[in-house]
Amino acid sequence: MQHQVLINTARSLMAPGKGILAADESTGTIKKRLDSIGVESTEQNRQAYRNLLFTTAGAEEFISGVILFQETLFQKADDGTPFPDLLTDKGIIPGIKVDMGAKPLAGSPEEKVTEGLDGLRERLSDYAAAGARFAKWRGVIDIAEDRPTDYCIHVNAHALARYAALCQEAGIVPIVEPEVLMDGANSIERCEQVTDAVLDAVFTELKRQNVLLEGMLLKPNMVISGKQCPQQAGVEEVARATLRCLNRRVPAAVPGIVFLSGGQSDELATAHLDAMNRMGPQPWALSFSYGRALQAPALQAWRGQADNVPAAQQAFLKRARNNGAAARGEYNA
Ligand code: 13P
Repeated sequence: MQHQVLINTARSLMAPGKGILAADESTGTIKKRLDSIGVESTEQNRQAYRNLLFTTAGAEEFISGVILFQETLFQKADDGTPFPDLLTDKGIIPGIKVDMGAKPLAGSPEEKVTEGLDGLRERLSDYAAAGARFAKWRGVIDIAEDRPTDYCIHVNAHALARYAALCQEAGIVPIVEPEVLMDGANSIERCEQVTDAVLDAVFTELKRQNVLLEGMLLKPNMVISGKQCPQQAGVEEVARATLRCLNRRVPAAVPGIVFLSGGQSDELATAHLDAMNRMGPQPWALSFSYGRALQAPALQAWRGQADNVPAAQQAFLKRARNNGAAARGEYNA
């Protein structure tokens, strides 16, 4: 019974032509985003910004789910409706970020391990009661000459699987997000090698910890050149390398893969997803779970001014529509 609930939620999140809006920026991250448009990060401004996104008419055609930060899960829209109810009424599934962030890894302090397992069972039951039907946990792996270590990959994979098992016990679909960062100077080949090792470790742990693959989603990075790398791989090459890596490591039982954008420009994130879907069919549905690549133009258009809300909503809707098209392999730049 519980299995069927998980499977149904995962399938609904992967509805054709739809993807996920990651609006789960932690208090620190949303402050950075709001700072960039000269808006103070008060609870009221954070509510106003999320209200703008979630009340965008028509976005539900392209958005199947929204990942919320804990504060937002318990906030209300301008009309007094709790945000999870507002989303549910539009046919959008509310989700929740449950990790407590990436912290320095003891014994290898330049690397990080994501915390938040203690008390997670209890928190999940509170989040489910508030309307959350799926969750997210992000492990962070960076690339340098001597990183990542096996140790870092292993502890992050282990934590991701522990989180996933706890979510499924609570009837919540886990989005498993092992993010290999794209900030370095590494080549696309090195990104592929590291992503391969990370996915291998993650699926080994998921199996060991009895996670139902049919009742989860994977949120990986794309296989891409590091931002500082002088040689930037083109769209086709990124699409081919990403698909090759995923086909080697992700079992076909996983219903869907939703990519993070990770600092790619919004246009490129859309083009990459589109190219992969044009190379289909693949064993799993391929869509998006973008934060920055869905929100950046809306944030710029808004700038904290109520008068700018319609323009910001238009900008968000455009990104949602284009990524919805890319999820079908029908995007025309
Ligand atoms: P970006 O698409 O901005 O990488 O955010 C997605 C996300 O949820 C990262 O955890």
